[in-house]
Amino acid sequence: MSKNKSGPNAIATSNSVLSAVTTALFDLFSSKGQLQATSDNERIDGKTCLVTGSNSGLGKAVAIDLAKRGGHVIMACRSGIPEAGEDVKRLSGSDKVEMIQVDLSDLEAVNGFCDTLKARNITLDITVMNAGLMPLNSRRSPQGYELMFAVHFLANRVMLNRMLNDNIITATTNDASPARIIFVSSETHQSSEAIDFEHFGDYVEYGLKEGLKHYGTSKLHLSTFVNELSRRLNPDYVEGNGKVNVAVHSLCPGPIASNIARESPAFLRPILVSVMKLFFNSPAIAALPVILLACSKTMSDRTGVYLHMMKEKPCSAHALDIDSGKKLWLKSKELLGAFLINSENLDKSIPDYP
Ligand SMILES: NC(=O)c1ccc[n+]([C@@H]2O[C@H](COP(=O)([O-])OP(=O)(O)OC[C@H]3O[C@@H](n4cnc5c(N)ncnc54)[C@H](OP(=O)(O)O)[C@@H]3O)[C@@H](O)[C@H]2O)c1
Repeated sequence: MSKNKSGPNAIATSNSVLSAVTTALFDLFSSKGQLQATSDNERIDGKTCLVTGSNSGLGKAVAIDLAKRGGHVIMACRSGIPEAGEDVKRLSGSDKVEMIQVDLSDLEAVNGFCDTLKARNITLDITVMNAGLMPLNSRRSPQGYELMFAVHFLANRVMLNRMLNDNIITATTNDASPARIIFVSSETHQSSEAIDFEHFGDYVEYGLKEGLKHYGTSKLHLSTFVNELSRRLNPDYVEGNGKVNVAVHSLCPGPIASNIARESPAFLRPILVSVMKLFFNSPAIAALPVILLACSKTMSDRTGVYLHMMKEKPCSAHALDIDSGKKLWLKSKELLGAFLINSENLDKSIPDYP
């Protein structure tokens, strides 16, 4: 079992958390470099969309927006069935909305969910991997992994492996606009130290004070995976040029007045909820960068874009590091074993790069 770091490393971490918070505030309040929100006229009629964790907060706002634009929206949720789906139908004015139950912390359930999509011959044009959590302290997933590592990284790794293997998401074969996969990460990944591959997947104990640090680390795993997936799926694409087969993007939505702090101590919750309502973005505003990456024509020939709210910027150097991306791909393959069904097919079908 890994021990949490303390001493000089803890100071380094708190400095980098501070710098990440400062950058986040700067991005929140400065208008420089802001991208245009996607016009309501950009429709996605006939497209099938999937949004994980869409019974609440950001995911629900994304589901409403995608349904308003004419998409058939599949809400992949652990709870809120059927009420959240009924809300999304009512608020979007669309009845092309359905819910499928899945607990993303359970890798068996993740594969079971993909079995359902496959059995129904569902193909996805827009996939938004949004589900996330910030627990008060460390907990184990059904397979014994730390919960944020399981939901933010392992579930996405297993689900994308299945979706790409089983042609639930396919590479574009002609000039048609490619399928898009959008991952909701967090700016906290920027303050995380490099992935510790020596203790990869080890369960780590933490309490309230260390929670944000581990949240950032789990999002660094996710962001590193996103960049690796984008490179593997698009070997001919380099820095804005070349063919995009499947677009893979990520973002940090900024601070959202959502249910993310649901586990905060009861005495703090009313204050926290009031502060979030006053100072944080509403889920509908926080959804703008997701919708931009998912629907805007301005993104149609790009992959590997990272947005912090409505600004484009690089992910952290750790998340962009090619060796780290390859290592993460291989280490997670070893760790996941039989949960990564037919992974050889996907590995082989994607040309090795560089
Ligand atoms: N809130 C912020 O300030 C902020 C900032 C940066 C990034 N983010 C990211 O934004 C995303 C959305 O969060 P939010 O702020 O909208 O929080 P939220 O309102 O708490 O929504 C989180 C969603 O994730 C789902 N989820 C969590 N664990 C799951 C599991 N094991 N299986 C299936 N679904 C699960 C939740 O389902 P249940 O309701 O069933 O638990 C819920 O639908 C997350 O990835 C979060 O890390 C949030």
